[in-house]
Amino acid sequence: MNTIYLNEEQLSVDEFNSVCQQSLQQQAFPLAQGAERNVLIYQADSLISAAHDDRQAVLSELHRALSSGPGVFVVKGLYRDLAAVDRSSQIFEEILRDEAASGGGGDHFAKAGSNGRIWNALQKVAERDADAFIDYYANPLLALICESWVGPGYEITAQVNQVRPGGKAQQPHRDYHLGFQSNDVVARFPLPLQILSQYLTLQGAVAHSEMPLESGPTQLLPFSHQYQGGYLAWRQPAFIEYFQQHAIQLPLSKGDGLFFNPALFHAAGNNTTADHIRTANLLQVSSSFGKTMEKVNHVKVLLSLYPALRQRQLETEQRNAVIAAAAEGYSFPTNLDTDPPLGGLVPQTQQALLLQALKEEWTEVHFDQQLSEHVRKRQA
Ligand SMILES: [Fe+2]
Repeated sequence: MNTIYLNEEQLSVDEFNSVCQQSLQQQAFPLAQGAERNVLIYQADSLISAAHDDRQAVLSELHRALSSGPGVFVVKGLYRDLAAVDRSSQIFEEILRDEAASGGGGDHFAKAGSNGRIWNALQKVAERDADAFIDYYANPLLALICESWVGPGYEITAQVNQVRPGGKAQQPHRDYHLGFQSNDVVARFPLPLQILSQYLTLQGAVAHSEMPLESGPTQLLPFSHQYQGGYLAWRQPAFIEYFQQHAIQLPLSKGDGLFFNPALFHAAGNNTTADHIRTANLLQVSSSFGKTMEKVNHVKVLLSLYPALRQRQLETEQRNAVIAAAAEGYSFPTNLDTDPPLGGLVPQTQQALLLQALKEEWTEVHFDQQLSEHVRKRQA
């Protein structure tokens, strides 16, 4: 059997079943408050205080939860400040209204009308309301969760998903990267690369509304990320049927966060309520070693945010979390003729430039000039 290239004949629902039937060893996750239906449940407050004592222990446990663990966890109360969530929700509504009026904002994944979608919500919110962006991303626990899976220098993209009453469930699938490719393309990637690809992205969802079961929170199949042939398997009827029999759902409250390995089989659920709109801000967090699915214009984001960011009195951790969400965190690719390493081994990142600007209290004009120069010298 070729162990480097898989084909569909090698897939087995029996093997998939034994992967998915693992029982959760909860003692391996001492920081969790508990587990529901094989999903680890964390309380934001206890993660924050544990991180004060030993940040690396928290990073390690969350990483294991997404790899050798069930591949999914919930953080209750990720946003203690629900005003920050509501303020962003208000901007989402404005954007949805404006995009609907101009005929844009389509969703490839749902029937028109049953769903609202905002692509690149990260940039759009920054451009509309800098303070709302800052309030939302000045969340050190969110930053810690991102780092736990994809390491430092990550890039966040955000897509708002709104499922209205009557909105239909999705088919089960895996997510970006390879979850967006046809089987022909997937099969050309050596299996080690297929497995590696899950480490390049973290899937997150922040609940912007209450999400009772009848509103259709994400259906999840714990441990399914560990099935190596999964990228070729999820379109097959036998695997879809297995998913439909075994997937679980958990209700979420506004401000809770759900995070999962992008290789986990999952699907949005049916919204069977008469009047409840389910709204989530989907966060797709890319490792600096990966490519994001969406292009974010970080220069526009930074020029929109900088005047407000200069005025704000944020704690160091909060400020760093905003910088991580707003600016690019990796030195490459660049033009090494014009953007040589600074002192160390790598050229200055956009995040480092922004931090320097804030520490040295640059004016807006000076920041604008320096940012333009940073972009110019990195071009080939
Ligand atoms: Fe998905």
